[in-house]
Amino acid sequence: MRLSLGRSVFSHAMEISPVSNTRAKKTILSGMQPTNDLTIGQYCGALKNWVELQNEYDSLFCVVDLHAITVRQEPAKLRKRSLDVAAMYMAAGIDPNVSTLFIQSHVPEHAQLAWILNCLAGFGEVSRMTQFKDKSSQHADNVNVGLFTYPVLMAADILLYNADLVPVGEDQRQHLELTRNLAERFNFHYSPTFTIPEPFIPKVGSKIMSLQEPEKKMSKSDANEKSTIFLIDTDAEIRNKIKRAVTDSGSDIVYDAEKRPGVANLMTIHHIATGRSIAEIESDFSGFGYGDFKEAVGESLVAFIRPVRERYEALRADEESLKSTLRLGAEHARERAHKTLRKVYKKTGFVEL
Ligand code: TYM
Repeated sequence: MRLSLGRSVFSHAMEISPVSNTRAKKTILSGMQPTNDLTIGQYCGALKNWVELQNEYDSLFCVVDLHAITVRQEPAKLRKRSLDVAAMYMAAGIDPNVSTLFIQSHVPEHAQLAWILNCLAGFGEVSRMTQFKDKSSQHADNVNVGLFTYPVLMAADILLYNADLVPVGEDQRQHLELTRNLAERFNFHYSPTFTIPEPFIPKVGSKIMSLQEPEKKMSKSDANEKSTIFLIDTDAEIRNKIKRAVTDSGSDIVYDAEKRPGVANLMTIHHIATGRSIAEIESDFSGFGYGDFKEAVGESLVAFIRPVRERYEALRADEESLKSTLRLGAEHARERAHKTLRKVYKKTGFVEL
């Protein structure tokens, strides 16, 4: 689909009217980077909620490959992982007949809007992003300009579709705040255009901690693989990693994220895997020690992850069908993104021919 400059912005009055609330369903958009296999942290903080919200909302989920290259990537691996992540979204329950599922680089409007937002974002405000500070110290040999403007591209992802709600983990809160500020600034300087999005950050599971250093976030890129449970881990790997998880001094199963982050983290994981509330877990394990509890968490996670992994393997094996799903998703996303970008171009003062 090309940017057809001949059509007037007003010739296709949008049934989806930004800033007003006349849409039948509100919109959600979210994404993940294809930089590694997905983790139980990403599932708990984001993917689980995408699945739960997708029927209630007009939903778009993307694989953010443009974001991924802010850190050096091997092209063949990036290509493979982008498809892996899309397949994992579906294995976890994203239904492409309900939600729009696409790869970010297939919709060039993301990069186009990001440029315009870059010209509205302050150097100072972007410099305050803690993720940039963390990542630039982790990748000191490659502190590129893309890494710096990463959150502006994320704002473009969200604002292009006038998302009302953005389901993410706790670590994305600051990026959402920047997105809101950029949307308000554009609306103020030009005229009301963008919906101001709200973050959707779950009360439980918004920050799953490392199994080895429970005061640190579980990360897909942790050098110590024992810290992280991946959604493609085998049963034996899951059991092993949980067994070796660092727990705190003490012996009873009581939730205290401050004083006993290791056990609290395992309780959160058990809650996600079984649906038992934290209070129920405390009572289920009253009188039991860490050893018994870890065994139960290992088993609940195995039971939870195994069907996801099996669905993933089946979906990933049929690459043609996966690609055709992504092609359709990209077409749908482009149609919508194109409408927003035309408006933005016009308001910005670019000539329409
Ligand atoms: P990414 O790829 O780092 O992570 C994807 C999602 O998973 C959440 N998450 C976690 N939640 C709980 N505990 C953890 N240990 C954990 N680790 C990761 C993240 O908060 C995120 O929601 N910048 C985003 C990707 C992005 C995006 C967007 C998100 C690009 N454009 C537009 C929403 C909307 C990122 O790096 O996520």
